[in-house]
Amino acid sequence: MFDPGFCCCSQPNLYKYCLFFFHKMLCLGIESTAHTFGAAVVDGSGKVLSNEKVMFMTEKGEGGMIPNEVAKHHRQHRDGVIKKALDAAKAKMKDISLVSFSRSPGLAPSLVVGLETAKEIASKNKIPLIGVNHCIAHLEIGNLTTKSKDPVLLYASGVNTQVIAYEAGKYRIFGETLDIGIGNFLDSFARHAGLGFPGGPKLEKLAEKSGMKKKGGIIELPYVVKGMDVSFGGLLTNLKQKFDSKRYKIEDLAFSMQETVFAMLIEVSERAMAHTGKKELLLGGGVACNSRLQEMARIMCRERKAKCFVPERQFLIDNAAMIAWLGVLEHKAGIRKDINKWDIDPYERTDDVEVKWR
Ligand code: ATP
Ligand code: FE2
Repeated sequence: MFDPGFCCCSQPNLYKYCLFFFHKMLCLGIESTAHTFGAAVVDGSGKVLSNEKVMFMTEKGEGGMIPNEVAKHHRQHRDGVIKKALDAAKAKMKDISLVSFSRSPGLAPSLVVGLETAKEIASKNKIPLIGVNHCIAHLEIGNLTTKSKDPVLLYASGVNTQVIAYEAGKYRIFGETLDIGIGNFLDSFARHAGLGFPGGPKLEKLAEKSGMKKKGGIIELPYVVKGMDVSFGGLLTNLKQKFDSKRYKIEDLAFSMQETVFAMLIEVSERAMAHTGKKELLLGGGVACNSRLQEMARIMCRERKAKCFVPERQFLIDNAAMIAWLGVLEHKAGIRKDINKWDIDPYERTDDVEVKWR
């Protein structure tokens, strides 16, 4: 194992200049904010050596989350996932020089499994531990893998819907959902329509088949943008009522729904770009896997002469590589805390974190 204790990088000020440490260090990342338990190994230069995960599903294959059940699932699978990540990286635990875990935000019982696991590994192997913010990790893995530099991030996942960008020492939230996350909205409508979980990809396929797509029509739905924020609650009720009325084809509802909600997201992203003067848009979160959302983002960026960056799927959805990479960045910036002092912070906001690594 590379021991940073014998190197100039053990000094916080010299740390970031130590090229030897940069490339030698291996960070084990652990993700457990919600239904995914992930483990990954990333080296100090940002090379992702492995990225493994397991996802909680109910017996019926639904995505409803009972926090204690999810935590039980994570406890059952954690050792297997970590072993897989080490094996895939061709590494042994003794090669790991840093452990990074997602400390926030998320479901407390799930977060605790990640914290306990990370603490155990760090104490047993006498290596530093670092806890990072999950939302910021989405942004930093995007920068790493797409080479975006100073983007506005549209983070569209199950629970989270936020427009985030760097300004004055912090990643600020320029816009967000006022009620439910976009992914939960899609999944909830899909479940109501009997499509199963996860709903987003199923609705995407149905929207493709809509006759309205060719003819250019759309079913009018509530378009709720309030300043820089969006809201999906009223739209969800409206959609469910329309579905129950049996007057609409599910394909046309799926198509019109996508056009409406994605236009809302793109509108607030564009406004954040105009406000900050940034020329890059980065997508993150599982909903960003959607081809129509990606297409709309690219069109908006082309019109603004800005660049659009879309990470590959494994880095869009919840993953541990992003947790490992943010751990590397923060550790390199000299952030240190005693293993026993790390804790979870289920409600930490993106703009609570002081960004010391930029
Ligand atoms: P969070 O990251 O906020 O904790 P999460 O873990 O539920 O939430 P992700 O794993 O990033 O989120 O994404 C899951 C969501 O992405 C689900 O709601 C799913 O329906 C949605 N999704 C996945 N693929 C697509 C797609 N092609 N189109 C639309 N939505 C999609
Ligand atoms: Fe996420």
